[in-house]
Amino acid sequence: MLKLHDIHVYYGHVHALKGISLEIPQGKIISLLGANGAGKSTTLKMISRLIPPKQGSYDLESESMLKKTPSDLVKRGVIHCPENRRLFPLLTVEENLRIGSFTRKDKKVAADLEKVFAYFPRLKERLNQYAGTLSGGEQQMLAIARALMGNPKILLLDEPSLGLAPNIIRDIFQIIMRINEEGTMILLVEQNVHLALEISHYTYVLENGRIALEGESRHIKENDKIRQLYLGA
Ligand SMILES: Nc1ncnc2c1ncn2[C@@H]1O[C@H](COP(=O)(O)OP(=O)(O)OP(=O)(O)O)[C@@H](O)[C@H]1O
Ligand SMILES: [Mg+2]
Repeated sequence: MLKLHDIHVYYGHVHALKGISLEIPQGKIISLLGANGAGKSTTLKMISRLIPPKQGSYDLESESMLKKTPSDLVKRGVIHCPENRRLFPLLTVEENLRIGSFTRKDKKVAADLEKVFAYFPRLKERLNQYAGTLSGGEQQMLAIARALMGNPKILLLDEPSLGLAPNIIRDIFQIIMRINEEGTMILLVEQNVHLALEISHYTYVLENGRIALEGESRHIKENDKIRQLYLGA
């Protein structure tokens, strides 16, 4: 279980997160929705400790993460799959995947490569291709696959559907559900409101650095008024 309570983040004078409290319980997919600039990516960056909070508490399995570094979080299995994929375009698919397992000391990297290929058979066919020459959908698959190579307990996904065609988005969301069914908790940031509500258990809606709405995803999905008011969808 990951738990944030009353988290505040500033970029200089910009007060980007104004008291965020949220939980990622064991086994769940949690979605974090909201308009551009609401603070979604900032929340993920704070969780992976790329940026510090000024106030608030952050616990993972009841231990405070406030003094930890990004690499401590990776070692604890909190793996961030960032906005815009951030692949290494001049490295091959295989090299990008191996970078995802860089911090690991166990010997299961080969087995995990096979597991990742079971999710994404296309990547196996393209092991020696430069990441920068993959299609958009393939690049997103590689970004998720690279995160999986870090053996995540909690996977932070920032807009996995961005710029992709509907049928590829479907494929990727199916895989996200499988990853969750096999035991990984997921915090999903998405602009595709309908799909996010469909696959997540619980939803938080951010507005201007604050949580404006939260609830079971199926309740929000069924309530047209609330959905239109808070999500315009
Ligand atoms: N490095 C930075 N320096 C200053 N302000 C920043 C920085 N990064 C983000 N912000 C500001 O913080 C706020 C939240 O940004 P954030 O990237 O978290 O939004 P978001 O919800 O992920 O938006 P989007 O849907 O467009 O990705 C915005 O007002 C943004 O301009
Ligand atoms: Mg963002």
